[in-house]
Amino acid sequence: MKTQFDKVLLEEGEIRARVSELAKAISADYQGMDPLLVCVLKGAVFFMADLVREITVPCELDFMAVSSYGSATDSSGVVRILKDLDANIEGRHVIIIEDIIDTGLTLSYLSKNLRARNPASVEVCALLTKPERRKADISCKYVGFEVPDTFVVGYGLDFNEDYRNLRFIAAMPEEGSR
Ligand code: PRP
Repeated sequence: MKTQFDKVLLEEGEIRARVSELAKAISADYQGMDPLLVCVLKGAVFFMADLVREITVPCELDFMAVSSYGSATDSSGVVRILKDLDANIEGRHVIIIEDIIDTGLTLSYLSKNLRARNPASVEVCALLTKPERRKADISCKYVGFEVPDTFVVGYGLDFNEDYRNLRFIAAMPEEGSR
């Protein structure tokens, strides 16, 4: 599988090590707080699953599905909730788990939406960030890696729903070279 990707950006081992560091930081910061980890489907599923198994304090999980009105590669900032949380988050310490922050528009909408429900706190943990693409001013407390402004796939990230199951993260080959 790997041979078709000429640029592997993050190997499986690097991802595992960083996820473990993030889990350590979260475990230290959230002692006795029973945080609610909110996974934004679908891309963050793999990250969430690996992260939560490294977290050493009691925590709960919930899931949201959102769709952004935009082109396949660009979100517009207008977000529709396809699946809302099961939990009432009033008074809870919420951590939004994202695979990637690109423009930041999805996260900007999501954190505003969740804050309106009176949680005790809302923080963000994202595996990847593309700072060059940022359009919204958002704060992300836990970041795995900065990646360049190229289309990335693997470890949850897709191209037309393909490649989510790669164990590594790679730059998508240019059209024509595939
Ligand atoms: C990705 C990612 C974020 C969003 C980031 O989701 O998981 O939710 O895009 O983009 P933004 O910062 O420009 O708003 P996507 O819409 O690809 O859905 P998926 O996770 O189901 O693949």
